[in-house]
Amino acid sequence: MAATPAHPALDPALAAAAPGGVLVVDFGAQYSQLIARRIRECRVFSAVVPHDAAPEEILALRPAGLVLSGGPASVYAPGAPSLDRRLLELDIPVLGICYGQQAMALALGGEVARTGAGEYGKTPLTVRSRDGMFGQLPAEVCWMSHRDAVSRPPDGFTVTAETTSSPVAAMENPAQRMYGVQFHPEVVHTPFGTDLLKWFLFDACDCAPTWTATHVIEEQVERIRAQVGDTARVICGLSGGVDSAVAALIVHRAIGDRLTCVFVDHGLLRMNEGEQVEAAFGRHFGVPLVHVRAQDHFAAALAGITEPEEKRKTIGREFIRIFEREAEKLKDARFLVQGTLYSDVIESGSRDAAKIKSHHNVGGLPEDMAVELIEPLRQLFKDEVRVVGEELGLPENMVWRQPFPGPGLAIRIIGEVTLERLDILRKADFVLQEEIRRAGLYRELWQSFAVLPAVKSVGVQGDERTYAYPIVIRAVTSDDAMTADWARLPYDLLERISNRIINEVDGVNRVALDLTSKPPGTIEWE
Ligand code: XMP
Repeated sequence: MAATPAHPALDPALAAAAPGGVLVVDFGAQYSQLIARRIRECRVFSAVVPHDAAPEEILALRPAGLVLSGGPASVYAPGAPSLDRRLLELDIPVLGICYGQQAMALALGGEVARTGAGEYGKTPLTVRSRDGMFGQLPAEVCWMSHRDAVSRPPDGFTVTAETTSSPVAAMENPAQRMYGVQFHPEVVHTPFGTDLLKWFLFDACDCAPTWTATHVIEEQVERIRAQVGDTARVICGLSGGVDSAVAALIVHRAIGDRLTCVFVDHGLLRMNEGEQVEAAFGRHFGVPLVHVRAQDHFAAALAGITEPEEKRKTIGREFIRIFEREAEKLKDARFLVQGTLYSDVIESGSRDAAKIKSHHNVGGLPEDMAVELIEPLRQLFKDEVRVVGEELGLPENMVWRQPFPGPGLAIRIIGEVTLERLDILRKADFVLQEEIRRAGLYRELWQSFAVLPAVKSVGVQGDERTYAYPIVIRAVTSDDAMTADWARLPYDLLERISNRIINEVDGVNRVALDLTSKPPGTIEWE
């Protein structure tokens, strides 16, 4: 059996992005990702690394600074994540936040008091020195969330701020370029927080604010050229979504027509999506595109299936089958592009786990295909991908598209998926999207769509009795799809959607609204 490595391996994609950036050493705080986000918003690259990553591996990434994140536990709790002292000896500026400050204080010979009582929420702050991080910042209120607190700073540190419960709310050692704060500069409730982070980035670490969409594109183009070489060919599956589209465009910029995109249209897409992909990629960008029109194939495969998981499995299986067939025609393609995002990478944590996940994302390509992955979005958050997409000239309707599930409209049709029912749902969904866009709400909503249940009800239209399907309006707000709330759409908008759907879509005589948050509901109906 292979020995377990002492330290988790870091994502290899960091090697290109991290030099000159700031790494967030994660002690398990819910805010670690947020710290990285805030730093990136200041145009400095940032990524989260585990607290037990090997110091020499971190040093090899040549970061300009380190932030030690907060953590959930008391530094004295059994099993509390410890700070490897060698991280403080790399001659790189370090900012400890909350637990990070406490761990730093302990590692350098200071003291942390188990106060028992905590300090939570907005807290008045008294600045004792403005020679360093506070400068002229309006630092009067900060946001706290802790029990333990540093009670005595290590030698060489000056206390520069305090609160009633935290005698060391901030400490600084400019000679060693080490700093600590007990409060959270990354949350909006610390009004001067971003300015304090900027001070650390630009004054303490001497970073340059160069992390922009253009920079990302240039860096990835260079990286892809080096990875692929001068002759090899590359394949990319397009879904119609923003991630695969942006990934493909970056690769196309790097290697031109040696990239072939395969777009399997399973007929479960929203109105006009197939044409939009064709127009953007085939015609506008001139990317070699294989557009597989497989609507009838999928409709036949889905005939008679009503069980949601069986639908998903059937669609997944047929999708891979068709993609494989097209890939085989491009036998000499040795590389496969994937729109893996940073959020996909961090879930898995280690190099090995990341590989399993990304392989899974491919949709189970055959082992003997022996492709190497190209993942140009591996260091980006979704909103950063959109900015890169805009920079590359991707049309607005693709850049800002709401998330859409792989199995498409099939999991929004309860019961059997038929061409007729797909047509009803697609038309109703189109009306809904059009009205949501007109009302200026499309980008505000996480998702908005129509659902077609498997029941019919009685109605009356023009003196005629009708017996037809209802359409359910589903619109949710969310940050990450893990939880969601039903959107409070204005009544007049709901009225317009309802009237138009019933008037314009044959086979529908009623419109209902889904008032379920997640949990207990899921966003999709199947
Ligand atoms: P639920 O319905 O679980 O959805 O609340 C959470 C998010 O995931 C999307 N979703 C899917 N995406 N394949 C996908 O690629 C799927 O089978 C699938 N099911 C749900 C959904 O649209 C929402 O954004």
